[in-house]
Amino acid sequence: RTVAVILAGGVGRRVGLNTPKQLLEIGGKTILEHTLALFNGAPEIDEILVLMTPGFTGEVARLVERNGYRKVVGILEGGASRPETTWRALQALGPRECDVLLHDAVRPLAEPRIITDCVAALRDHAAVDVAIPSSDTLVLVANGPHGETVLDVPDRAGLRRVQTPQCFRLSVIREAYERAFADPGFADRPPTDDCGVVLRYLPDVPIHVVPGSERNMKVTHPTDLFIADQLLRLAAADVPPASPAALRAAVAGRTLVVFGGD
Ligand code: CTP
Repeated sequence: RTVAVILAGGVGRRVGLNTPKQLLEIGGKTILEHTLALFNGAPEIDEILVLMTPGFTGEVARLVERNGYRKVVGILEGGASRPETTWRALQALGPRECDVLLHDAVRPLAEPRIITDCVAALRDHAAVDVAIPSSDTLVLVANGPHGETVLDVPDRAGLRRVQTPQCFRLSVIREAYERAFADPGFADRPPTDDCGVVLRYLPDVPIHVVPGSERNMKVTHPTDLFIADQLLRLAAADVPPASPAALRAAVAGRTLVVFGGD
């Protein structure tokens, strides 16, 4: 069986609202609903587990019920950090073997092709990452007394921007996380994604890369809300285009602290 784990346990500090950003409505429904609709509608996915910000699981249960997302088998509270949320999900899945796709709830523009490619890749690979080339040059920096300085300009051809879903045989990702949480140094220097945990704790497991897409953006900063809203509206013929003013009004009720900044 193939399980999608939707990581929705964050608070969205960088968007700066008093509601987790995955519950903001853009493109006609909440970000979380866009994401759940994608996985619920994917023929390759058998079950969905949602990990939600503590205090908001009831809201998720209501929207699952309202939309009839029948593949959702569990709604649990996430942890204090993303790795802790993943760890909770892995524990909830128990000792069985299956394929698992770990996906950021705030990537509502992932597409069916990516899910199909990931599930196909899992037939031959125990770990699968989704990534795209970077159109910007990326540099390695170091903090010095006068701010940051560039240490290196790595060859862009060999660099990728990582997205989700990140996909694994359950036994492999569980083993990596068991080792991570047994390591006293892990909490101080956690990798920022799940493939990073496998790479650090199971370095012999090759991580296959499937192409992602430019559209599969992570809603991270306030400006991302505008971009994702417009892209979702373009994709859904029945949702009329929104003006920036309308979007601003839609989020105003959620106590906007920062908008248009970083
Ligand atoms: N996430 C999670 N549990 C956490 C933290 C993050 O499940 N304790 C999830 C988020 O809900 C999101 C994904 O991981 O779907 C990617 O994280 P990010 O964009 O950093 O979300 P937030 O942590 O909510 O944002 P911020 O860092 O701005 O607070």
